[in-house]
Amino acid sequence: MVRNLETLKNKIKNTGIFGHSSYGKTWQEKDGDEQNNWYTKMHKCHEIQHQDFIQYLKTRNNLETVLEIGCGTGVYPIQLKELFANIKYTGTDISETAIKQCKKNSSFEFLVGDFIKLNISKKFDLVFSHAVIDHVYDMDAFVAKIVNVTKKYAYITAYRGFFPDLKKHKMNWNDTDGSYYNDFSIIQIKKKFKEIGLNENEFDIRSLKIDNTNKNEDYQTVIEIQKTD
Ligand SMILES: C[S@@+](CC[C@H](N)C(=O)[O-])C[C@H]1O[C@@H](n2cnc3c(N)ncnc32)[C@H](O)[C@@H]1O
Repeated sequence: MVRNLETLKNKIKNTGIFGHSSYGKTWQEKDGDEQNNWYTKMHKCHEIQHQDFIQYLKTRNNLETVLEIGCGTGVYPIQLKELFANIKYTGTDISETAIKQCKKNSSFEFLVGDFIKLNISKKFDLVFSHAVIDHVYDMDAFVAKIVNVTKKYAYITAYRGFFPDLKKHKMNWNDTDGSYYNDFSIIQIKKKFKEIGLNENEFDIRSLKIDNTNKNEDYQTVIEIQKTD
């Protein structure tokens, strides 16, 4: 009985109805140097993932516009800005305080808001996002929106593991952080891709080995999308 109640409570929370009012709290409440340091530290923790992405980015041709979702205080557009020397970079994040830092330290374009709801009228040659899908309240909507604003390429990482056999996304709401901690189901996302019209040749979902501790977190998930004309 108690267990059923817990399951029901989690199901309700996972709809986002309750989690929503404080959603994003953990990224809003930091500010200034403390916030910059937090994002830099987070970036360094995922060095292998970032190297994988940088290699990917450098091997794409004719990129004119790039969108980063969940840019935080701007490690890519500020500390790694040489990657976008001939590219029009746009960064977006739900954290107002983080975007304030970006605007202070960079002349690139930045948009603040919940990416799932943001009104974005244009498409970008490449869209990328690191460690954001792991926290959103609707993984399918997040990925569908990425597909929608992508002209050619998208690259998405999920840092919490690689779960090829998980039938449905697993979402866990953390009230203290105001964030979800998600296990990303490859089976479910493949269905979503099909539903929104991507064909099998237009996406690849792979694991990336980042550690050696025999845990789920030894692997991250990388989704690459390449739209055909
Ligand atoms: C774990 S941090 C990752 C930061 C950075 N991308 C990295 O890899 O180091 C997650 C980021 O996603 C942002 N975020 C979470 N949900 C979002 C949403 N719905 N729309 C836009 N940004 C979101 C947070 O504010 C935070 O900056």
